Amino acid sequence: MNARYTFNVSRFDPTTGDPPRYQAYAVDVPQGMTVLEALLRIQAEQDGSLAFRYACRGAVCGSCAMVIEGQVRLACRTQVRSLEGNRITVDPLPHLPRIKDLVVDMDPFFETLRAIQPWLQPGHSEPEREHQVDPADWSEAEPYTNCILCASCHGVCPVVESDPAYLGPAALAKHYRFLADVRDVADAARVALVNDEHGVWGCDMVWNCTRVCPRGVTPTQGIGKTRARIRRAERAQRA
Ligand code: FES
Repeated sequence: MNARYTFNVSRFDPTTGDPPRYQAYAVDVPQGMTVLEALLRIQAEQDGSLAFRYACRGAVCGSCAMVIEGQVRLACRTQVRSLEGNRITVDPLPHLPRIKDLVVDMDPFFETLRAIQPWLQPGHSEPEREHQVDPADWSEAEPYTNCILCASCHGVCPVVESDPAYLGPAALAKHYRFLADVRDVADAARVALVNDEHGVWGCDMVWNCTRVCPRGVTPTQGIGKTRARIRRAERAQRA
């Protein structure tokens, strides 16, 4: 049986010059309907001008992160009837410039990733066969490969909010993914990219990023491990 919900969706159109406002839409929600499906229904049946971003609908592409009932979540993975009450407020992802309605400009987020050189630097020419890694060695880097670049962590990080130059949890988790990769030999150069107050030392260890990650990535832990490596290297230099 369907249940009637009201979706209060934050609207913003930069061409009007008007400030953001909420618009209410009533939707009959069956069991299992996700917030993304509700938005698609609103767009198809009530308001074709409503803008939001999505692609895979399966929690893989990371496009549909937004604030649903005050929490950053993937719209495609959030079932409406799992939420409290029947009035659902939907806002865009924080800490990124807004383009229209629920669509934000992801460029500043992707810039942070470019800054940490997110590619393998093996220090030799292409091998004839694939690089082979012992599973025991890979287990340290592997959890950090699960990031889907949804920017949920970026949207809940208080340091990102206060310091626009801060690299942020997603970039620093990706950085640790390469630092921990035994095939990569660029450790010293990599550490230099994040060894300041806009890098690993800027993190306030609030753990919001880890709590919100839909893929179980733990950026705060990666940041802590990078800090520990830096301290160990400094101690070794002094000895
Ligand atoms: S649409 Fe791809 S993660 Fe939600």
